Amino acid sequence: MTNKLKYFIGNWKMFGDFSDYKIIYKINQFSDRSKNILKEKKIVLCVPSTLIHYFKNKLTKKSIFLGVQNCHHHQKYGPFTGALSATMLKKAGAEFIILGHSENRFNGDTNNLLNKKISSSLNEKLKIIYCIGETLKEKRNKKTFHVLKQQINKCLKKSYNPNNILIAYEPVWSIGTNKIPKKIELEKAIKFIKNQTTKIFKRKKSPKVLYGGSVNDRNIRQFKSISLIDGFLIGGASHSPKKFIDIIKNYYK
Ligand code: PGA
Repeated sequence: MTNKLKYFIGNWKMFGDFSDYKIIYKINQFSDRSKNILKEKKIVLCVPSTLIHYFKNKLTKKSIFLGVQNCHHHQKYGPFTGALSATMLKKAGAEFIILGHSENRFNGDTNNLLNKKISSSLNEKLKIIYCIGETLKEKRNKKTFHVLKQQINKCLKKSYNPNNILIAYEPVWSIGTNKIPKKIELEKAIKFIKNQTTKIFKRKKSPKVLYGGSVNDRNIRQFKSISLIDGFLIGGASHSPKKFIDIIKNYYK
């Protein structure tokens, strides 16, 4: 098995309450206990912003990272009713932030807005998980690489430090559908993303590239043979400690 660092990132979406600390606790315990065996893994849970401060304070021996799922494009404070800035989320305890998720792109997050969100989050020293991916229609029209290129080139700048950026390739048609890309398609997409980002950052290394979309404890084994994948963004299955932990265990089995 590979000994390259792999990320397992949970995206809780609009689910979760204070009592769900028990989920965080179990996953943290697992992470701590498996530290020596599964050295090369990083676990991040991106929870609703209402919970991050509480979870962070309650977690005493922290062996996982906590993140949020979006922010307003204005960095600090301002007259934006109901909005939360990267500054506020960082102060509340976030270490990571998901940006550009297709569910938010559908709600109005353009590449232009995301550009600002990325820059304000990086300014706050949050590590970003930048989601990109094509819709089913774009895939059918053979627009996948065009879309990925736009999403990358319009939002990532060469002045950014690629170590603070993770890219999650999430084909929109695979999110919550139980459909995953064919191995060859996925390999091509990940390679393409790595080539594009290497061009931007002009370094030998590209940011880490994760896969997301219907990852579960059964299909995770299919991804093992694609060593280019640096980890996974896991939605539905991340709200169950058993399913989330089984994904990690089965990956390393
Ligand atoms: P899913 O969601 O694992 O439920 O498909 C992934 C995501 O939306 O990040």
